Amino acid sequence: MTKIYPDSHVEIQGFMARHYDTVMNLISGGMYAKFIRSAVQAMHLQSGEYVLDLGCGTGRNACLMRPYLGDTGYLLGLDISDEMGEQFKKNCRQYDNVDFRNQRIDIPFEIGKEFDTVFMSFVLHGLPHEIRLNVLDNIYKNLKPGGRFCLLDFSEFKLKEMPALYRWLFTTFECKYAFDFVERDWEPVFKEKGFKKTGETFWFKNYVRLLTLQKTE
Ligand SMILES: C[S@@+](CC[C@H](N)C(=O)[O-])C[C@H]1O[C@@H](n2cnc3c(N)ncnc32)[C@H](O)[C@@H]1O
Repeated sequence: MTKIYPDSHVEIQGFMARHYDTVMNLISGGMYAKFIRSAVQAMHLQSGEYVLDLGCGTGRNACLMRPYLGDTGYLLGLDISDEMGEQFKKNCRQYDNVDFRNQRIDIPFEIGKEFDTVFMSFVLHGLPHEIRLNVLDNIYKNLKPGGRFCLLDFSEFKLKEMPALYRWLFTTFECKYAFDFVERDWEPVFKEKGFKKTGETFWFKNYVRLLTLQKTE
């Protein structure tokens, strides 16, 4: 499939898409599994919540969120990758209240439901900035009044202040959009789009964070 944004590294295809979870486990020496469990725990999801997972990938995160939601909650994962979608459906097949939809998140879409929580993990950094603004509009539109946006992604930092090895890894494996993402002052952007920061938890020497933002009226 042709990429929508050719320079993006979050439009994952081919071998990497088919083996995404395994690759993440291997390159992190097993740390990723522990980290993602801890990040989902830090979301403090409640039984009965409706969650929209944007760029949901293989369903690994959905399977970790589902026990918190119980039988009365609901989770819908959206992703453009067929390979990711196949894995999502397989991984979540035991849950009646977890669905997948092949859907671009960077253009307006209608779900027909309002969600308590929109979750997005390691997608926003890999999009051009003007496209991120469209994604934020989609998130706002699909949240209930007072709903929250949980953004798990890189935090804000200066690339030149990173230790040399980390900087080499980051600039080698991430795309140019990610460089802009980490150096950006996000608070005014979120404010402009109708979100207020309510919480922040950090991992990996503060280079990664779970940011919780509430939809303002
Ligand atoms: C780095 S992966 C992260 C997957 C998952 N959120 C996770 O944390 O494991 C990025 C995901 O975003 C999806 N994606 C990228 N661009 C997208 C778009 N425009 N619309 C929908 N999904 C997109 C990719 O197919 C991929 O599954």
